[in-house]
Amino acid sequence: MPKLNEHYQDLKESYLFAEIAHRVAAYTQAHPDQKVIRLGIGDVTLPLGSLALAGLHEGVDAMASPDTFKGYGPEQGYAFLRDAISAYYARSGVSVDAGDIFISDGAKSDTGNIAELFDADNVILIPDPVYPVYVDSNVMSGKKVTYISGNAENAFLPMPDPAVHADIIYLCSPNNPTGAVYNREQLQEWVNYALANDAVILFDSAYEAFITDPDLPRSIYAIEGAKRCAIEFCSLSKTAGFTGTRCGYTVVPKELVFTASNGVQMSLHAMWNRRQSTKFNGTSYIVQSGAAAVFTEDGMKQCRANIQYYQENARIIADTLTRKNIRFFGGVHSPYIWFECPNGMESWAFFDELLTRAQVVGTPGAGFGENGKHYFRLTSFGNHENTLEAMKRFEKLF
Ligand code: MLT
Repeated sequence: MPKLNEHYQDLKESYLFAEIAHRVAAYTQAHPDQKVIRLGIGDVTLPLGSLALAGLHEGVDAMASPDTFKGYGPEQGYAFLRDAISAYYARSGVSVDAGDIFISDGAKSDTGNIAELFDADNVILIPDPVYPVYVDSNVMSGKKVTYISGNAENAFLPMPDPAVHADIIYLCSPNNPTGAVYNREQLQEWVNYALANDAVILFDSAYEAFITDPDLPRSIYAIEGAKRCAIEFCSLSKTAGFTGTRCGYTVVPKELVFTASNGVQMSLHAMWNRRQSTKFNGTSYIVQSGAAAVFTEDGMKQCRANIQYYQENARIIADTLTRKNIRFFGGVHSPYIWFECPNGMESWAFFDELLTRAQVVGTPGAGFGENGKHYFRLTSFGNHENTLEAMKRFEKLF
C-alpha cells in the first residue's frame, strides 16, 4: 500500500475558487432562468490585443514550415521573450538581467512550486489575508506557516517586526485580495529586514500593471538591495488578458546565494534552473511569440487600454460602496475591491446572500485567511454592463 502525503489532510477540502465554482454551478442548475453575474475569480473578459494576437499567429505560422518549426524550447524560455521582459523592466527604470528571468505558464505554478527549494525547517511568514496558493503549497509539503496580520488598522499592509526572525517572506503588492499597495519606504523596510535576517522575499507582482501612481514601486527590484534577497513572480494573466493563454515569469537573481548546513554555497538561481529543467519543458513557442508582442511599447499600450476599462469598473464598484457607507480597500491600483460585509455578516453567509438574492458572485474573504472572515472581494474584470447591473442589484439589497 502506498504511504500517502498525509499533509493533504491539513488542507481545506477544495481550493477556494473550485469551491465557489461548485456553489455557483449548483445554484445555476437549480435556477436556470436567473442571470448570474460573476465578479468572483479574477478572470479577465476582454479579448487579447491585436498585437498579442498577431504574435500568436506568427508563432502558429512558424510551426507550418520545416525552416521555422520549433520542437522543445529552452526550459528557461526563449531569449527573445526574456530580452523583451528585461527591456520592459528597463523602461520603468528597473534593471533586471534577461538571464535571471524564467518564463513559465503563469505565476500560480511558480508561486506554488517555489516552496520546493526550501526545507521544512524555516520560519515562513505569510500575510493573512492572502492568495491561498502560498499557504496551500506550503501545507502540502508539511511546512509550518507563521501568519502576519493584515487588517484595517494597518490598511492590510503588514510590516516586519524586527524582534521576530524570519527565513522566508511572502509579499504580494498590489495585494490579492485586498488591493493594498506597498509604497517605496515600506518595501525598503521589508528588504532591509530580509537582509538583516538573511531571509528571502517571495514577491508576487502579478498586478503591477494596475499601478498608475509613478511613485509606487511596480517591482521589488526598484528597491535598493532587493536583488540580494528577493525572487519576483509576475504574470501576463491580468496585464495582458492571458488567463486562458497562460504565460508568466519569475526572476531569480544570481546574487541569491546562501550557505547550506554542510557549508556548501547554494544558488537559488541554479536550484530553480535545475528544478525547471527537470520538471518543466517550457512554455509553448506560440504563447511566447504572443507574449513577446505584449512587451513592445505598442503592445503595452493595448494592455493599458484594457486595464483602464477594468479600472472604470473598479470605480463603479467603489462609488457604490461609498454611497452605501461601506468601508473598502483597494480598487485604485488594483482590480480588486475588498470591503466589510454589510451588517457584520460573515463572508460565506454574505456570499450565499448575494448569490441567492442578487445573483451576484463574489469571493468570501474567509477564503483568503482568518482576517478575511468579515470581508468580501469583488473583481473589476467583468464588463461595464454587468458591473453596473451587479451594483444596481447590490444597492437595492444593502
Ligand atoms: C484570483 O481571483 O484571486 C485570481 O484570479 C486567481 C489566480 O490568479 O490564480
